[in-house]
Amino acid sequence: MDTTKNLEEIFQSKIDHEIKIEPKDWMPDAYRKTLIRQISQHAHSEIVGMLPEGNWITRTPSLRRKVALLAKIQDEAGHGLYLYSAAETLGITRDQLLDELHTGKAKYSSIFNYPALTWADMGSVGWLVDGAAIMNQVMLCRTSYGPYARAMVRICKEESFHHRQGFEILLTLSQGTEAQKKMCQESINRWWKPALMMFGPPDEQSSNTEMSMKWKIKRETNDELRQRFVDVAAEQVKFLNMTLPDVVWNESTGHYDFGALDWDHFWNVVKGNGPCNKQRLDARIKAHENGAWVREAALAFAEKQKIRQQSQVKTA
Ligand code: 3HC
Repeated sequence: MDTTKNLEEIFQSKIDHEIKIEPKDWMPDAYRKTLIRQISQHAHSEIVGMLPEGNWITRTPSLRRKVALLAKIQDEAGHGLYLYSAAETLGITRDQLLDELHTGKAKYSSIFNYPALTWADMGSVGWLVDGAAIMNQVMLCRTSYGPYARAMVRICKEESFHHRQGFEILLTLSQGTEAQKKMCQESINRWWKPALMMFGPPDEQSSNTEMSMKWKIKRETNDELRQRFVDVAAEQVKFLNMTLPDVVWNESTGHYDFGALDWDHFWNVVKGNGPCNKQRLDARIKAHENGAWVREAALAFAEKQKIRQQSQVKTA
């Protein structure tokens, strides 16, 4: 009979030997719990993340931009479904996941609690928000939990399109009129530091990183990924002839310095006091309520199908 200690040793040995943990494998309760926490928050982020961009579908400057924005938003819905399904393999139901979001129990990425005020924001969201998400998600392609790692592979491919369409929006504006250039720089200035906070608090304030690194849920820390993102964006922004606030090359470290981030502000947004927290949650609750009839109809149809198949089996 395997004792818990023995099971824990087998589990950690799999992690150490890069063997993916699958839904039916034994796993420590704390591993399951932190994965449900992280994957569900990731899924919530995808779904809530559709809202700032959804607000611009009717206001895109061309049909081409509308098509790209619609495709991106639809992708995000699919990412959410992928990730909710990955979370469900750990023994939590979709209803529980959504209830935790709607009651404010579950978190979603702080970045989606900021308003998208101008068309340039659609570019900044694609370039900076999806760019930061890609930096994190490429790492998660190697996470130790099988379903999560596999979900990331497809998500990262689609995020690359999101990132490029955002950068192209900014590139177009950066080559336009003075007013368009001004709108472009103003948007980058507004989204830059909140995007850096997407990577999570500084490592010394991170309550989950130590265990996540031991269990290879995370492969790099918040600060390591944040720095990598800054170094990449600082080179890309040169093609826009724009600047990133407080970003300066540091010859001695071989990286870009990015100034102080306001972590009190960050925690305040995470706690629900950001510019759009209430608006975002109200929108999600309203959408869930308005969509109840679709769920009921789908469940009724599935039940009818099940009864029909059972009667066919009886008569066969
Ligand atoms: N927004 C809200 N909460 C955050 C946060 C953020 N940006 N960063 C950290 N937190 C929370 C954590 O959830 C944790 O709280 P909890 O224990 O109650 O869950 C607390 O702050 C301490 O942070 P830690 O660093 O200890 O937490 P993690 O180890 O979980 O690391 C993370 C944070 C790097 C965001 C990690 O959770 C992660 O990799 N999540 C999955 C990826 C993800 O969510 N990406 C962002 C959104 S996806 C997206 O942008 C969609 C794209 O299509 C646009």
